[in-house]
Amino acid sequence: MIEGLFIVLEGVDGAGTTTHTKRLQTTLSQRGLPVHATREPSDGPIGVMIRQVLSGRLVVPGIQGARPPSWSTMSLLFAADRADHVEAEIEPNLRDGVTVLSDRYYHSSIAYQTATSGGSTEVATWVREINKHARKPDLTLVLNIPPDVAAKRRAERSGGREIYDDLDLQRRLTQFYAEMDSYFPGERIVHLRSDRSADEVAADILHHVRVLRGEA
Ligand code: TYD
Repeated sequence: MIEGLFIVLEGVDGAGTTTHTKRLQTTLSQRGLPVHATREPSDGPIGVMIRQVLSGRLVVPGIQGARPPSWSTMSLLFAADRADHVEAEIEPNLRDGVTVLSDRYYHSSIAYQTATSGGSTEVATWVREINKHARKPDLTLVLNIPPDVAAKRRAERSGGREIYDDLDLQRRLTQFYAEMDSYFPGERIVHLRSDRSADEVAADILHHVRVLRGEA
């Protein structure tokens, strides 16, 4: 049995990773390819807990009020969720010959947890270290978008605010994503501009997946 391909979509909040993961899943399955779409935080037990933290339902109580857990706690939670996600969902599908699409993966940890810690290289190195046993993607598609366009898209969509909504943080994340390749040596990473129509971006994504599959 030939293993499936593991493809990750990454970008700041509002870049369109969720939309394009779904679109790619539909397109590939219409072409007869077995495909499984997933996301991080995952839908496993640790991922569900992380979503409660992101929405503010789970906090660290303190004398001066409740706050979200620190970047180091978040890094470890995301890494634990990832280990569980790979073991329970990603690898079993790949072994069955199914192509797996993940809306976010360890690149998000290095981006978000480093940025919320103050952005030092030492933290980035540590976050990478605690994720080093996570399987490498065959292709990572990074959706790049100017921070103001992403902010407008976030404001237009439904759902409550999350702990990483801050505009200044999102600006730093935009910068990180634009320059992220040096943190992931040896990985196949493709950057795409996502401040275009969804159809144009989807066509571009499909092209890169076809190149990966040796079809284009
Ligand atoms: P989600 O509501 O799924 O955002 P979106 O649909 O816009 O991708 O929440 C994911 C949030 O979690 C997003 O703000 C990025 C953050 N995150 C991290 O901080 N570290 C990580 O390792 C991952 C996977 C996500």
